[in-house]
Amino acid sequence: MIEPTTMTTRLRADSTWNEGASANAEKQTLPSLLSTLRNGLTSRGVEDTGKINGYTLTSNGHVHSTHGPTKAELQKPPRSRESFEKVPFITAALTHLGFYILMFLGFINQLFFVPKIATEKNREGYAPLYDNFEKFYLKYVYRRVRDCWNRPICSVPGATVTLKDRVTHDYGWTFQFTGTETQCINLGSYNYLGFAEASGKCADESIKTLKKFGCASCSTRLELGTMPIHDELEKLTAKFLGVEDAIVFGMGFATNSLNLPSLVSKGCLVLSDEKNHASLILGLRLSGAVTQIFKHNNVKHLEECLKKAIVSGQPKTGEPWKKIVIIVEGVYSMEGSIVHLPEILELKKKYKAYLYVDEAHSAGAMGKNGRGVCDYYGIDPREVDILMGTFTKSFGSAGGYIAGTRTLINHIRIYGHAHTYAASMSPPVTQQIITSMRIIAGEDGTDAGEKRIKQLAKNTRYFRRRLNQIGVIIYGNEDSPVVPMLVYLFSKIGDPYSDDP
Ligand SMILES: Cc1ncc(COP(=O)(O)O)c(C=O)c1O
Repeated sequence: MIEPTTMTTRLRADSTWNEGASANAEKQTLPSLLSTLRNGLTSRGVEDTGKINGYTLTSNGHVHSTHGPTKAELQKPPRSRESFEKVPFITAALTHLGFYILMFLGFINQLFFVPKIATEKNREGYAPLYDNFEKFYLKYVYRRVRDCWNRPICSVPGATVTLKDRVTHDYGWTFQFTGTETQCINLGSYNYLGFAEASGKCADESIKTLKKFGCASCSTRLELGTMPIHDELEKLTAKFLGVEDAIVFGMGFATNSLNLPSLVSKGCLVLSDEKNHASLILGLRLSGAVTQIFKHNNVKHLEECLKKAIVSGQPKTGEPWKKIVIIVEGVYSMEGSIVHLPEILELKKKYKAYLYVDEAHSAGAMGKNGRGVCDYYGIDPREVDILMGTFTKSFGSAGGYIAGTRTLINHIRIYGHAHTYAASMSPPVTQQIITSMRIIAGEDGTDAGEKRIKQLAKNTRYFRRRLNQIGVIIYGNEDSPVVPMLVYLFSKIGDPYSDDP
């Protein structure tokens, strides 16, 4: 099935409620399974039987908690609306048709015009980089509109962004810079709160740190790469999120892909939202755990998967799963939806599963205090076993974190490859996060952070409302700063460039 083309827009500062699923969850009577602790893991308020999902738990660093929204809280009406407008039949038909025509033209193109560049075939002795369809698609279909993306920028990614102008004389195979620049409205960066700036407090303090500690530690955290600034950021992150401890890494993508293998392995089952980010998917592939996809943000389907998994156990042996972990995102970066956290937490507790929430797009941007989706829903963050997030969006920096109990974080400090084998976060990058986080938290003694959070929430609703008014189809939750705008017709995307040779 061909997905409609979405243009995802991230705003800057300058749920539906599934009652059926809750009712279903009420009737369900699976054996009461108790959560557990191992290797120093603590389980709050639950008797430790060493069993979970009917199985003995191995060292994993996860902890269950009994905190959480009450039933009355869960039955509150949704605070915001989420919509995924159905595409009209005629638009869907034209989109498919347009796409097939492009593919057909691309195919003809491939037959008659051999490109002068990118001619290398798969090298002997090396794994192929792309599959055949991917190669064809990138060269003969996507190339036509490539100039709409992959544009080099030469300014901070603020409300406006400066693009380096370029031209193509061979229909998008190659580009040459013209030496001129164009300033545009920025609809594509993740700089939600506007902290990615070249001047101001964050930049000034980062420069001071650069002068004191340099750009890099040139070592891993476990060797000579830990500086006081890293400890400071970890303590601050834990405090900001309202959990016991946190660990930080130099790259958001690696935070998922290199830490998941330390949390799940063979014999574990992961129930992963179908729209989860590539970094989560890669981490799961590396882990060796069995991954099952559930429909996007669909609590009912998730519950069916949980029930089935517990009843059937592992394939072939029928043995119980060592662990069942649900992985979701806070705000989905391509759909603009917000995770149905209260209901998923209910399921997690009922079926004694673990919950991993990737807050790349929600930490800093969601909730009254910018503390993410737990803040948005008024949920105790300690309810979530593993809170993951990145510093590349609201904090205007780079890197990622995992936060939770001290036991979980200690576990990752030993078993997480990104901590053990990758160089530590660059000091000025670390300082940028510390300064922006302190501003968001109001620890700088001003209300500048609060103002940015409020402005983002206001901009989000305003932007969505006005797009609706002009008749554009947009997706997602009205509180989501990610605003996907559907364009549908592939050829229309490249239209402004139709004058190009
Ligand atoms: C949900 C999610 N997780 C992880 C990442 C990876 O983070 P980073 O870009 O900071 O490496 C992204 C990137 O956009 C993301 O959207």
